[in-house]
Amino acid sequence: MTTHFSALRGKNVILGVTGSIACYKAVDIASKLVQAGAVVDTVMTRSAQQFVSSLTFRSLTHRSVVTDLFDAESDDAVEHVALALRADVVLIAPATANVIAKIANGFADDALTAVVLATNAPVLLAPAMEGRMWANAAMRQNVSTLESRGFSFIGPAEGRLASGEMGRGRLEETSTVLNALYEAIGGGSAGDLAGMHVVVSAGGTQEPIDPVRIITNRSSGKQGYAIAEAARDRGARVTLVTAPTALTDPDLIEVVKVGSARDMLASVESALRAGADALVMAAAVADWEPASAAGQKMKKTWETRMTLELTKTPDILATVRELPGVKVGFAAETEDLLGNAKEKLSRKGLDLIVANDVSATDAGFNVDNNRVVILDRDGAQEELPLMSKRDVADRILDRVRGIVDARR
Ligand code: CTP
Repeated sequence: MTTHFSALRGKNVILGVTGSIACYKAVDIASKLVQAGAVVDTVMTRSAQQFVSSLTFRSLTHRSVVTDLFDAESDDAVEHVALALRADVVLIAPATANVIAKIANGFADDALTAVVLATNAPVLLAPAMEGRMWANAAMRQNVSTLESRGFSFIGPAEGRLASGEMGRGRLEETSTVLNALYEAIGGGSAGDLAGMHVVVSAGGTQEPIDPVRIITNRSSGKQGYAIAEAARDRGARVTLVTAPTALTDPDLIEVVKVGSARDMLASVESALRAGADALVMAAAVADWEPASAAGQKMKKTWETRMTLELTKTPDILATVRELPGVKVGFAAETEDLLGNAKEKLSRKGLDLIVANDVSATDAGFNVDNNRVVILDRDGAQEELPLMSKRDVADRILDRVRGIVDARR
């Protein structure tokens, strides 16, 4: 999957890497930044190089890596000053207790601390250390000193630490780190959907029969993920409420993982109540759920038939119809495409419905292309040719934007 998030394209990012076991995650961060089109200059401390080789970053970023204040790789002994001036943002991930203490006290005894002292760009620190170190009074003071000077901290997260203990001190997930970076460079204010919060649902919900069995459907989640990514790339804040899929979590998107239709309803509802501007329900929501899920695995009996009693799941779109926000539904049909779609549009109180014929083999379920008709409340039908799910996503978002603009 290519990572698109346009605001990072061409931005000069200094990635500071300091000596922690979490250094391997910095490799992933560097890779994602490069995929997004950022120009990444890596500055490594001596101890970071004990964990990961500078060659790894040099290969990923296609740029030389600064490893020393007087760097053998560079003829220019004041390179750190040039880097510092050019930077749009400095991200230190992982940031050790030691580097945080040095920055808080204005040290400049290696290339990274020198860059931090010389730059005017925002500096973000993603700490990684033992929980006791993070909680220590000296660390607390260093953190508040840095915050009062405008530095931002990303995490650390709670979880299992290098020592095997549980606590607060884990380097945040790559997606959280990238989100914070994106915000810091004003990513949220670029693009025609800037300032909008879009909620997208995706995947096929799973309704439990017992602890090991489920009822689900063939949805791949591809169309929903494509809409979420397109909205992000156009500057929207995006919440993706997704039932299980085989797809990778997209970066810079809040991903809420749910199982059943009921779980999905709860997450969609709370996002809309929090003031989202639009809901695009691309999820294939199960219409039926077992009347009562068995608490234990159901055993095979001597009977040759068994009956499973099902009850209706809540209709998510119908439940949230009175909440504010533009509502877009999908109608996946195998017959009378437009008739069924129109009926759903009015029954669910939608602004738009995207109708697709799922009996076609070149479009719809589990493939990368889709052929849809977008219908609106006024009865207009926009019939689109076969195109990528990403292009379909953009066409849907164009319509959503039109409705949001008209209501402002
Ligand atoms: N949907 C929903 N809640 C449900 C079922 C569906 O919000 N319990 C949403 C889907 O995400 C989609 C739209 O409603 O955006 C239409 O879904 P679809 O399954 O085509 O329609 P149903 O109302 O379930 O009707 P039917 O299965 O009879 O075609």
